[in-house]
Amino acid sequence: MKYDFETLIDRRGHDAIAVDAVGSEQFKGTAPSKPMKGFDEIPMWVADMNFPTAKSIQDAIIARAQHPAFGYFVPTDQYYDAIAFWHRIRKGVTDLSREEIGYENGVLGGVVSALKVFASPGDAVLLHSPTYMGFTSCVTGNGYHIVHSPLKTDTSGVWRMDYEDMDRKIKENHIHIAIFCNPHNPCGRAWSRDEIRAAMEVYERNDV
Ligand SMILES: Cc1ncc(COP(=O)(O)O)c(C=O)c1O
Repeated sequence: MKYDFETLIDRRGHDAIAVDAVGSEQFKGTAPSKPMKGFDEIPMWVADMNFPTAKSIQDAIIARAQHPAFGYFVPTDQYYDAIAFWHRIRKGVTDLSREEIGYENGVLGGVVSALKVFASPGDAVLLHSPTYMGFTSCVTGNGYHIVHSPLKTDTSGVWRMDYEDMDRKIKENHIHIAIFCNPHNPCGRAWSRDEIRAAMEVYERNDV
């Protein structure tokens, strides 16, 4: 089997605050409290993957860990080639060079690196609210100012972007950078092609 999305793993005690923090004093107010007697914890409060990592990845990590020294490193040729390959087959980008690829080990570091290219501390950044708390802390922690464009529920209770509000906030606050989250956290909307196109038109029109 290539991927296993079926097995229920007992993650307790294996670097999993998703389950270990439930009901703990240390995470009071952040993690949910223990479920009532007779109920299981359903760790949906944090976006951990609850399926096993593909075996080829696990095998490569184990093989590397067999060598006992862990020093400073630079990304390998395979690292750059794998990223260029993915962009070629998935996105049709054929001219991605090494110089255009940075090394990041998490999404939030990547977000901050991108912010630093396009804006200076003190500048305003457009985000939809409700906002993933990781974005809030890394954007404000690096000295940027967040302007929220609230998502709204339509008559069927589906969360939608408010393009007019986005446009107005961008103009009022002289914004040239936005963070666009898809699927949106929190609320779980995977934006449709038309919704993404409409948002990109707002950004493009305003040089965001
Ligand atoms: C929208 C969003 N972006 C980024 C992250 C962080 O991702 P990572 O831990 O892979 O850097 C999360 C984690 O919950 C998230 O919900």
